Amino acid sequence: MTTITADQIIAWIERYSIRIAEQKEFLTKLDSDIGDADHGANMNRGFQAVLAKKAELQGKDIGALLKIVAMTLISTVGGAAGALYGTFFLQASNVTAGKTELTPEEFVLVLEKGLAGIVLRGKAAIGDKTMVDALHPAVKACRRAIAANESLDQALAEAVAAAEAGLQSTIPLMARRGRASYLGERSVNHQDPGATSTFFLFECAAETLTGKQ
Ligand SMILES: Nc1ncnc2c1ncn2[C@@H]1O[C@H](COP(=O)(O)OP(=O)(O)OP(=O)(O)O)[C@@H](O)[C@H]1O
Ligand SMILES: [Mg+2]
Repeated sequence: MTTITADQIIAWIERYSIRIAEQKEFLTKLDSDIGDADHGANMNRGFQAVLAKKAELQGKDIGALLKIVAMTLISTVGGAAGALYGTFFLQASNVTAGKTELTPEEFVLVLEKGLAGIVLRGKAAIGDKTMVDALHPAVKACRRAIAANESLDQALAEAVAAAEAGLQSTIPLMARRGRASYLGERSVNHQDPGATSTFFLFECAAETLTGKQ
């Protein structure tokens, strides 16, 4: 059976850190339209700090390495996204404590716990124009595919497609959470920055966790 190794999880995090660095200006541009123009800088600060700890991540079990990622994000990112992504990885680390590899089923649980942590912390529902609009459908798509015995490759491809559709769905929405909500109607017709960075997280997962590296 396919399993996801600790090295693959590290590859995922590393690939995502690089993607964030590449997309930093784009994420900040999106946040300048409906926020305070710092999402790219916030995320990049956090994931560059994670990247600097790559040697420390190596050789750790998945729970331990995800905990380092979480604590690094919480202490370096600041703002809403730092706390929310930090919570995602902290919840993910709790369900993977002591594990050196994950079955697809266990990986879906990681995503579900991460999502639940973000929702508990940020109280955003689908349609509030936040990262949850990309994350929730992606996690659901992955769960559905794994429950239907589809391959991990297939499940992650479906999760990426669902995250992208969720991201696009934020464009016509009026924000109801975070700084963008202060804009009311003026937040309409803009793509949510956090939903965009979440879409990249799934893209990077599909590139690194499926043997297509
Ligand atoms: N309560 C929330 N629940 C889920 N996601 C949220 C929430 N509040 C904000 N976000 C997400 O965080 C993104 C903004 O992240 P950023 O790094 O710019 O932090 P920030 O400037 O402190 O946040 P904000 O502008 O929301 O106050 C938004 O695009 C949205 O996706
Ligand atoms: Mg911001």
